[in-house]
Amino acid sequence: MPDEAQWRNERVQVSYGDSLDGYAAWESPACIVSDGAYGVLGFEGDTSDHLALPDWYEPHIAAWAKHATPQTTLWFWNSEIGWAAVHPVLERAGWRYVNANVWNKGKGHVAGNVNTATIRRFPVVTEVCVQYVREARVDGLHLREWLIREWKRSGRPMKEANTACGVADVATRKYLDPGHLWYFPPPEMFQKLCDWANEHGVPEGRPYFSIDGRKPGTAEEWAAMRSKFSCPFGVTNVWDRPALRGKERIAIPGGKAVHLNQKPLDLLTRIIEASTDEGDVVWEPFGGLFSACIAAHHAGRRAFGGEIDPTYYHYGLERLKQEVRPHPSI
Ligand SMILES: C[S@@+](CC[C@H](N)C(=O)[O-])C[C@H]1O[C@@H](n2cnc3c(N)ncnc32)[C@H](O)[C@@H]1O
Repeated sequence: MPDEAQWRNERVQVSYGDSLDGYAAWESPACIVSDGAYGVLGFEGDTSDHLALPDWYEPHIAAWAKHATPQTTLWFWNSEIGWAAVHPVLERAGWRYVNANVWNKGKGHVAGNVNTATIRRFPVVTEVCVQYVREARVDGLHLREWLIREWKRSGRPMKEANTACGVADVATRKYLDPGHLWYFPPPEMFQKLCDWANEHGVPEGRPYFSIDGRKPGTAEEWAAMRSKFSCPFGVTNVWDRPALRGKERIAIPGGKAVHLNQKPLDLLTRIIEASTDEGDVVWEPFGGLFSACIAAHHAGRRAFGGEIDPTYYHYGLERLKQEVRPHPSI
């Protein structure tokens, strides 16, 4: 057992042990960065192939679903086959697939250590980082179905949604579309639909567009019904970036890397900043050297992390302490 089984400062809290035992005490996340088993015996407890990954992840995925909100984004790092094996478990737990991002480490990653005459496949230089979100529902309905139901309940003609929103035709065509053209109304447009229905709708059906079941919904409540996302200009779903080497790579005296799976801070910063705002909570259940906690801290977010291996925890904690100041009350 490490001397400091738990450590925190004003923004980051990490603990030694199985994260399954920690989740209940962590604040609800806006973003979860999962970088766990890959099915390659990459660390003590990793499985020997992808077939065992669904069972390995299942309890974590269930816990993430339990503690997530409609605003939570999950970033699931893995190999292509590892992700493919776990995807059905994620879907069953209510995580909706958004996008697969590919980390391309480039040819330098295999140069000199692959014999293409014998491997019988093209050399692999990628990992995936897959974006999932929660599927929000009100009264058990998908948001699209719920908006249409509420508008119809108000008794107003469908076309009048345009008048309510002060637009030519986009409200009826997009916000009340029953199919794939549906578009999540911006919070200010939701507020207009809601105000109009409650003012002009048949009195006996009020309140309309009530998220809490008691009063008309608000723009703030509506904004909280989906995950945050912002895409920096020029970024696509292919991330060309060499594997980690040099100063950022944590090594023991003599030069050997402490953790083979240490992730680059810039890629973690990218996904954290894209899916959270300052002050939001990030979870790093498979901490390793706590790269996501450090990236979150530097970006002004708060973070909770766990690591089950005492050696990795020791080095991860040392790294954290160097990168971020401890809380004065500890
Ligand atoms: C792929 S590595 C993560 C590396 C990390 N992203 C970094 O940049 O250093 C996965 C880590 O999760 C840890 N781990 C595995 N199962 C765990 C669990 N149930 N709770 C906490 N940590 C766990 C492993 O010991 C390993 O260090």
